[in-house]
Amino acid sequence: MSQLQGRRILLGVTGGIAAYKSADLVRRLKEAGAEVRVVMTRGATEFVRPLTFQAVSGEPVHESLLDPQAEAAMGHIELARWADALLIAPATADALARMAHGLADDLLTTICLATEAPIAVAPAMNRVMWAHPATQDNLALLQRRGVRVFGPGSGDQACGEVGSGRMLEPLELVQVMAGMFGQPLLQGLHVLITAGPTREPIDPVRYITNRSSGKMGFAIAEAARQAGAQVTLVAGPCTLPTPAGVERVDVETAGQMRDAVAERATDSQIFIASAAVADYRLDTVAESKIKKTGENMQLTLVRNPDILAEVAALDGGPFTVGFAAETDDMHAHAQDKRRRKGLDMIAANWVGRPGSGFDADNNALEVLWEGGSASLGPGPKTRIAQELIGLIAERRQQQGN
Ligand code: CTP
Repeated sequence: MSQLQGRRILLGVTGGIAAYKSADLVRRLKEAGAEVRVVMTRGATEFVRPLTFQAVSGEPVHESLLDPQAEAAMGHIELARWADALLIAPATADALARMAHGLADDLLTTICLATEAPIAVAPAMNRVMWAHPATQDNLALLQRRGVRVFGPGSGDQACGEVGSGRMLEPLELVQVMAGMFGQPLLQGLHVLITAGPTREPIDPVRYITNRSSGKMGFAIAEAARQAGAQVTLVAGPCTLPTPAGVERVDVETAGQMRDAVAERATDSQIFIASAAVADYRLDTVAESKIKKTGENMQLTLVRNPDILAEVAALDGGPFTVGFAAETDDMHAHAQDKRRRKGLDMIAANWVGRPGSGFDADNNALEVLWEGGSASLGPGPKTRIAQELIGLIAERRQQQGN
């Protein structure tokens, strides 16, 4: 990870249970070539002893604003100047609130005001605290001031609940920190993404759909945003939260998804079709609820337009990336699909295997283009998404479009 080579990262650790992961984060940042110094809040020292961070960073840990000895060695202003970037991980709801309001009553918040280096936060808290309007407003305020927000991820929480609020894993944080240095990969580009299932109505109460959760597409939207792109996410029915800074267009049917994409495709430089679009819809949707009558009933389905193939066929259209779900002979089938649809790239995954695919948090992809391929994962969809965005940026540049 050459972007972190020789970079000076000041890591602020605040008082949340995820603080235990920050020791590993220090190790990973150092492996990537960064110099790391650690500032802990009093709360953080209740969870992890400073000695742990001293051991992994190889540097004294800074805790107090009013300690004359520490100030004499490397004072808060020197620390603030030393840093190339300040990362606060975990960032508790309290830390975000104190930063948002410009408090400076401990070492970390004082450094936040005193540094000219870019600041990033990796929030970690209970899902209800994360969703609270106070937290969201504080976060929006910080983002308006240029603070970068990495995560949170979702999943099992230390409090026993499940939802958004988990700190990103150390390796994911290393990757997004690397992205803070140098030109963001997709700076100045518009990325259009489809995600989730579509829903094809039968009558006013029934519809045909599929098991897609939208997790992969939402993770890709977040990764593209973090890579500096302007992102529009055309989402079928799914309840996932919209990633920060992403424009979301909600649709239900394949027809609506096609219209939303067609309106925006020519203004986009990259199109990523991760949606599980229904291949067929009802030829006529009943206006009132269909009553049961005989022992059998028949529905007539007609083919939906292929949104991805239509975009790929546009003259001077965007770099197109499709997805393929395969159960056997993945390479050959996916490469064939890529050529048939005229795509620049296709990302194939196995379906029906435990731990990857539709509703899972993890995934593994085989990414194919003309004359090449790469395997991503297995790993969390958030990480796979970042790696996929990296590949797309690289291929697009090599193709010169
Ligand atoms: N796609 C689309 N519009 C459709 C159908 C599919 O944009 N009407 C996109 C999907 O978003 C995905 C890719 O095309 O990127 C999947 O292609 P598809 O031919 O549907 O592949 P499979 O679902 O794997 O289908 P099959 O097994 O029938 O080849």
